[in-house]
Amino acid sequence: MSRLGLFTLLFGLALVAAEQGYEGYRIYEVTPTNAAQGKLLHGLSQQGYDFLSLSRLVGHPSRVIVSPAQLSSFEELLKEQLISNRLLNDNLGATIAMEFAQRQLQRRLSPITGKGRLSTDRYYTHEEITNYIDDLAARYPERVYVKTVGWSYEKRIIKTITITNGDRRPNKKVIFMDGTFHAREWISPAAVLYVIDQLAEQFDQNADLLKDYDWVILPVVNPDGYEHTQKGTLARIFRKTRQPYKYLGQTCYGADPNRNFDFHWNEEGASSTPCVDTYAGPKPFSEPETVVVRDLMHSLADRGVMYLTIHSFGNYLLYPWGWTNDLPETWMDLDEVAKAGGDAIEAATGTVYAVGSSTNVLYIAAGASDDYAFYAGFNISITMELSGGGITGFDPPASKIDEFVTETWIGIRAMAEKVIEKY
Ligand code: ARG
Ligand code: ZN
Repeated sequence: MSRLGLFTLLFGLALVAAEQGYEGYRIYEVTPTNAAQGKLLHGLSQQGYDFLSLSRLVGHPSRVIVSPAQLSSFEELLKEQLISNRLLNDNLGATIAMEFAQRQLQRRLSPITGKGRLSTDRYYTHEEITNYIDDLAARYPERVYVKTVGWSYEKRIIKTITITNGDRRPNKKVIFMDGTFHAREWISPAAVLYVIDQLAEQFDQNADLLKDYDWVILPVVNPDGYEHTQKGTLARIFRKTRQPYKYLGQTCYGADPNRNFDFHWNEEGASSTPCVDTYAGPKPFSEPETVVVRDLMHSLADRGVMYLTIHSFGNYLLYPWGWTNDLPETWMDLDEVAKAGGDAIEAATGTVYAVGSSTNVLYIAAGASDDYAFYAGFNISITMELSGGGITGFDPPASKIDEFVTETWIGIRAMAEKVIEKY
């Protein structure tokens, strides 16, 4: 490491230590061995425990943050209920501080960009991503265009990029993809950028995907939250939007955009408390960001064949419903497309994605965008939860980005091929 590098690292560490973010917080991995334990863990997520990942499948590990104040009752519960567990990290504050300092260092070494191709060797800001898609539209005016579709609560611009094959045939079928619903899931915009690169820059290799379909892509649904997570260690694992809500005399920020859609809104797996991570919002579509996605969905619905939303983490390919454990009538079509993605990834890299309905494979959670898109008319609607990395799971080191996004593309390509064959 260079002298400047070392200085940056130490300075970063001092700065964040002063901030005291998550000092003494722990991360536990807990694995339910029967359905009752699974239910119990899910209950904790509604009671102020911040789950970094949560699965309802018996034998599948979940990760939860435990604050110093929660520690003794949490440990007692584990003991009483005989829940299998492992301490993954005994000071989240220190670990995030380290990750933050390393990132600062990397940013020094690779300056702000937004023109030309974006590499997969670091994460980009909302501004960089926006500049990049604008630049693509300028470079490929016959095939690519960018449209402003709205503004976030803090008035950041929200744009879509539409990629076509340039034949100008109107009313083609549509694949609508988005990313960065959740602020801390940084691999999501990285994966979406890679898809954009493939379709726009590597057009010759992917022209088959654009023959009868246009791709409409919204890389950053939640720019306020995403920018917030880049401000410091305390903010790094923030999930929601940034609209402030008052609760018992304090201010908590944001609603969970993936609980804010008006379809069985706030019925299950969401919270009415503003300070909880899965806060559904005071009413459906209380967040300007979800209004943007809703309006896009309706404007595309009659051409929209597949909706794909990119989250992290856990390696899941999920389809409706997420508000009930019933399956939609056409679940076999959904399953066929999702499996095509999972199988392609497993064949290429060995990574195994769990495929199934959101409620059955992950947990019940109503008011999400996937259910809404399906209800609005998309034949296929899939939430893809990518691979995790770093101690929280939301922080794969930059050196892993390339591996994760190329793998994701293999799955997305396979799902698109299946959709094109079927519809
Ligand atoms: N991790 C995503 C979330 O919690 C999964 C959403 C799955 N879809 C659903 N309708 N529950 O928001
Ligand atoms: Zn998410």
